[in-house]
Amino acid sequence: MQLNTTEQHEAFRAKVREFAETDIKPIATTLDLENQFPDEIVKKMGELGILGIPFPEKYGGGGMDTTSYAIGVEELSRVDAGVGVILSAHVSLGCYPIYNYGTEAQKKKYLVPMAKGEKLGAFGLTESEAGSDAGGTETTAEFDGENYILNGNKIFITNAPKADVYIIFAVTTPGIGIKGISAFIVEKGWEGFEFGEHYDKLGIRSSSTAELIFNNVKVPKENLLGPEGKGFNIAMNTLDGGRIGIAAQALGIGQGAFESALEYAKEREQFGKAIAHQQVISFKLADMATELRASRLMVYSAAELKDTGKPFAMESAMAKQFASDNTLKIVNDALQIYGGAGYIKGSDVERFYRDAKITTIYEGTNEIQRVVISSYLVGKEPKATGVPAKKGPTTGDRKKMIFKDADQKKNVAALVESLKKDGYDFSVGIPIDTPIAQAERVVSAGRGVGPESNMKLIEELAKQSGSAIGCSRPVAETLHYLPLSRYVGMSGQKFKGNLYIACGISGAGQHLKGIKDASTIVAINVNPNAKIFKNADYGIVGDIEEVLPLLSQALDTGAAKKEAPPMVKIKRSKPKKSAPSYKFYVCGGCGYEYDAAKGDPEGEVAPGTLFKDLPEEWTCPSCGEEKTAFIEGY
Ligand code: CAA
Repeated sequence: MQLNTTEQHEAFRAKVREFAETDIKPIATTLDLENQFPDEIVKKMGELGILGIPFPEKYGGGGMDTTSYAIGVEELSRVDAGVGVILSAHVSLGCYPIYNYGTEAQKKKYLVPMAKGEKLGAFGLTESEAGSDAGGTETTAEFDGENYILNGNKIFITNAPKADVYIIFAVTTPGIGIKGISAFIVEKGWEGFEFGEHYDKLGIRSSSTAELIFNNVKVPKENLLGPEGKGFNIAMNTLDGGRIGIAAQALGIGQGAFESALEYAKEREQFGKAIAHQQVISFKLADMATELRASRLMVYSAAELKDTGKPFAMESAMAKQFASDNTLKIVNDALQIYGGAGYIKGSDVERFYRDAKITTIYEGTNEIQRVVISSYLVGKEPKATGVPAKKGPTTGDRKKMIFKDADQKKNVAALVESLKKDGYDFSVGIPIDTPIAQAERVVSAGRGVGPESNMKLIEELAKQSGSAIGCSRPVAETLHYLPLSRYVGMSGQKFKGNLYIACGISGAGQHLKGIKDASTIVAINVNPNAKIFKNADYGIVGDIEEVLPLLSQALDTGAAKKEAPPMVKIKRSKPKKSAPSYKFYVCGGCGYEYDAAKGDPEGEVAPGTLFKDLPEEWTCPSCGEEKTAFIEGY
C-alpha cells in the first residue's frame, strides 16, 4: 500500500494547485452564483494536459498514474468542486471506457482528441427508473442491420450538454435483464440526439448537468463499445475506477474547507484570543485534519491498486464512501467555525458545504457503496432469477393504445370512440377551476404546450371535454402559465379522478406519480418516445397545435355541458399481455421450450442466456436431444 506520494506526484500537485489558485479561485464564487460552466478553464485544462492525465502518451494522454489523476481532481476540488467533477466525469467515465474497451480505431477517433482536451466526454447510465438499480435501463438500441437505433432518455448527466462524446448504455436484447445491455459511443450533434435543460443544482454549480434525449438516433455499428450484452459489466467496471475520482473530489472539498476554517480560526478573535486557541475549535480542527489524512491514504492506495493491476473495486468503494461521509462532517465543522460569516453567500465554506453533499450521492450512493463493499466480504445475495422482474410503468399497467394513422382526424375519432366506449359522457362537465384533487377530469399542459398563447387550446379542450385545467410543474413554476395550485405531481396536486388528458407532457417521474390513480390517461405529444406514452391508456403522437383543436371539435356537442353528476370512479381496463421480444426455441424431440428468461438452472445455464449463446454441448433437459435439434419458436 502506498504511504507516500513521489516527488513527481508532488510536482504535479504544485502545477495543478498553481493553476487552480491563479485561474479558478478568483472566479469560483461567480461561477457558483451564476450556475456557469467555465469554458475557458476547461480549454486551459486541455492545454495543460490535465484532461488526459492517466492515459498513455500514444493516445494523447499525460502518461501518468491514477494517483496523479486523483491529485488533479483533489487540487481542482480544493478550490472549485464543480471543476473537479468536470475532470472526473471526463476522465473516469468518458475516456476510460474507450481506453479499456475500445478498438484501436475507436481510441484513435475518440480517445486521442479527448485526452488532448479537444473534446469533452460524459457517461449516460442513469435513467428515471434506473438510478441505484442501474440494471433497470430502459433506453433501447435496436439493430437494423447497419445501425443501432437509439431511443430513450438519460437523466442527471454530468458534463451534458457541453460534452462532445457520450458513453451510452442501452438495451439491445430486451427481456433478459442486464445481459441485454450494451455500451455505445455517441456523438453530440447526431440527428435525434437532444438535451433537456441544464439542471439548477444545490452545489457543484460550475459543472453542467442535463438530460439526454434520444429519438431514433442512428449509432453506426462501429460505435458499439465492447461486445454486445457486456454493457452492464463495462458500466460497473468503469464506476469502480470512477469512484476513485469522486473520493478525490470529496477529499479536495474537505481540504479546501479545512484550510479555510483553519485560517479563519487563527484570525478571528473572541474572548480576547484567536478562536483557534479555544479548545472546542482546536479539537474540531484536529479531527478534520485526522479525517483528511485517513481519506487521503485510502484514495491514493485505491489508485495504486488500480495501477498495479490488483483488485481495487472494494477499496475504491471504501475510499469513496469514507472520504465523502467524512467530508460532510468536515464542511459542517468548517461552516460552524465560521459561524454566521460562513452562512452568507460568497463565503467559500458556504459553497463547500453545498458542494460536498453530491459526493455521497453520485457514482453510487454511499448506501450502494456499502452494498458493493459487503458483497466482497459476505458474497452476493443469492438471486431467485438473474432476470429482474420487469418493472411496470409508474402509473401501473396501462393499455398503451397509440393511434398512429397519418390522418390526425382519424386518430382523434378513434380516441373519442374509445373514451365513449369506456363510459365517458361528454355532454356533462365540471367547472374548469375545480380543485385538481376533486376533479373527475383534467386536461393538463406540459412544457410541450409551447407559447403561452397555446393555453387557449388547453382551455378549449378542457371546456369541450368537461374537465378542469391542470399542468406540469415547470408550466406553473417556471413558465407561470397557471398558478402553483394547479400543478399535478407527487410534489403538487394528486389527480385521483377518471380522465387525465396530458398535452405536451413528457412524463417526468414525479408527474406520473401524481396521476397513477387516474382511471384513464390520454397522452398527446409530438415525441413518440416521450415516457408518458408508456404510462398512458391512449395516445396520439402529434403537434398539440394540430391535435387539440381537432379533439375539441370532436368533443363539442354543440350545447353547453350539463353539470356533471357526483363522480363515480370508472374501472381501469386491463391491457393485453405482450409477447417477449426474444425468440423461443422448441426441442424437435420432445417439444420442450427453451426460454432465455429462465435459462436452464439444472444444466447450469444462467437466466438471461440467449439460445445462440448456449454451449454447443448443451442438450435438451427434458429428452437429451442435442442443441441442433431445436427449432425457432417465434
Ligand atoms: N465490474 C464488472 N462487472 C461487474 C461488476 C464490476 N465491478 N460488478 C458486477 N458486475 C457484473 C457481474 O458480472 C454480474 O454478473 P454475474 O451475475 O455473471 O456475476 C453482474 O454485473 C450483475 O452484478 P450484480 O448482481 O452485483 O448487479 P446488481 O444488479 O445487483 O447491481 C449494483 C449492483 C452495485 C447495485 C449496481 O447496480 C450499482 O453500482 N448501482 C449504482 C449505479 C451507479 O453508481 N450509478 C452512477 C451513475 S454515473 C454518475 O453518477 C456519474 C456522475 O454524475 C459524475
